[in-house]
Amino acid sequence: MLTIARSIAQLRQHLATSQRPAFVPTMGNLHAGHIQLIQQARPLGDCTVASIFVNRLQFLPHEDFDSYPRTWEADCAQLEAAGCDVVFAPRETDLYPQPQTVKVQADPALGDILEGEFRPGFFTGVSTVVMKLFSSVFAGKAQGVAVFGKKDYQQLMVIRQMVTQFALPIEVIGADTCRAEDGLALSSRNGYLSESERAEALQLSLALRALGCDALAAADALAQHLPALEAMAMQGLRLRGWQPDYLTVRRRHDLQTPQAGDPLVVLGAAKLGTTRLIDNFEI
Ligand code: PAF
Repeated sequence: MLTIARSIAQLRQHLATSQRPAFVPTMGNLHAGHIQLIQQARPLGDCTVASIFVNRLQFLPHEDFDSYPRTWEADCAQLEAAGCDVVFAPRETDLYPQPQTVKVQADPALGDILEGEFRPGFFTGVSTVVMKLFSSVFAGKAQGVAVFGKKDYQQLMVIRQMVTQFALPIEVIGADTCRAEDGLALSSRNGYLSESERAEALQLSLALRALGCDALAAADALAQHLPALEAMAMQGLRLRGWQPDYLTVRRRHDLQTPQAGDPLVVLGAAKLGTTRLIDNFEI
């Protein structure tokens, strides 16, 4: 049975006997991708906790904080069916009882590029709330585990680095992206797409896959060819009516420009109409 915790104190009470909580942070509006994270988390700890909190700190003023879908009843039904033990759903005043003036700033080398360049302050908002969620869930525990989707690849890396540098006793697991039958990465923001946009949306993943193939084919002189390949991929999407922010090939371990032989990831973000989509593939 799913237990609901509305405050940090209630959560800690429910977790009092847990020695290794397994945690999946979310902003709600759950879909099959989130449920896959819960299922991945369940065997890794002795109590499975999901959080639902739409975190104002990670939205820019013009972004969709107010309209972000809030689907509490359906979320709880899905969590219960998936075997989640506790949902932590604090009110804003519980998580931020006073203005959150103490913040966690991601390493600018990682946090100010790609998503961080186009959404300034995003990773400070994410790191700050995740640190607070971690301290709510894991305080006093010798160990814990947290599962994040690779769909938000850069976010996963920022969190991993935060956990390492603050020596938090938390194992961070990256879970594969869950995709619709046609290959579109599942995302709460897919719900903003019209029918025709939904059909078009797959083109971002296709463009990233094509860029990945081109990059592998040019592997011997990647640094030389990459700028042109990336520009071509962006232009292809522009011609279809998208507004791409970036389509790029990076080395996996720190998302910097790759050198020959580095394991690679191809990442992209682009707006289709008013909806901004992101995706990535390890290649
Ligand atoms: O990935 C998300 O849903 C959010 O960025 C997270 C990790 C729950 C922090 O608000």
